[in-house]
Amino acid sequence: MSGVLTPDEMRRVAENFCEQYQPGLVLALLVAGSGLRLEVPGWDAAEEVDLQEVFPFPLHSLMGHRQTVTLWRRGGETLMVLNGRFHLYQGYRPEEVVAPVRLAALLGAEMMIATNATGALDPEIGAGSLVVVNDHLNLLGVNPLTGEWGREFGPQFPDMSEAYDPKLRELAKSAAAEAGFVVREGVYAAVQGPSFETPAEVRMLRSMGGLVVGMSTVPEVLAARHMGMKVLVLSLAANPAAGLVDRPLTHTEVLEEGEKAADKLATLIGSLVGKLF
Ligand code: HPA
Repeated sequence: MSGVLTPDEMRRVAENFCEQYQPGLVLALLVAGSGLRLEVPGWDAAEEVDLQEVFPFPLHSLMGHRQTVTLWRRGGETLMVLNGRFHLYQGYRPEEVVAPVRLAALLGAEMMIATNATGALDPEIGAGSLVVVNDHLNLLGVNPLTGEWGREFGPQFPDMSEAYDPKLRELAKSAAAEAGFVVREGVYAAVQGPSFETPAEVRMLRSMGGLVVGMSTVPEVLAARHMGMKVLVLSLAANPAAGLVDRPLTHTEVLEEGEKAADKLATLIGSLVGKLF
């Protein structure tokens, strides 16, 4: 099937997933950029599920990698870890981008913890710093709650005044400092990409109150909040945004900074999971 994903199909996806993988009590969804090698003491990475087997829309391969979700199990409890995410710039529709979030919520998950790579809009933020996101600017031009999605699974006009859970943010700030990160808190500006911003756009985003800019995560946050999940988002500052330094931006730079921070980020997520569950 490759038509438009509907709420009824989403329910069937969740039912099939339940039957096939028996996830038991799903506590949370962790959304990690690909390449994060998570290890959580006390939890077993029991199964890696190919998402093409789960969702009824075609997946765009990400540099040849399968798109998977790992089920971490402890007794009858499960954590779902999404390895790499779906982006609008890859050509996914908004309801496809957030399908893993809705799946986790339909399976009972009450929390989403997401990491992402961003450009720093403030020149004071060095590459490799971590920003605990406390609000966002949705400049994507789309919202995954439009149409029938907004009338299914949650309120049509969900409140976003505290989209990023204050208690989780406090916990994350101390755990991030313990893991060795320089930590700031601030606003994530979401743009569609895939081109990086122009220097004029960077000045605009900064004057609008953004601290970091990225091409993901906001659709997932909107869908998660719509379904009542608590949300924590941690942004790695991978590069100074365009125009803040005198050289062009490359995807390689972003990947390299992600690779450098991967172990620290994995330690941080491991310690957060240990504190939370
Ligand atoms: N801009 C947008 N998205 C990004 C950037 C950036 O500079 N770095 C990593 N993701």
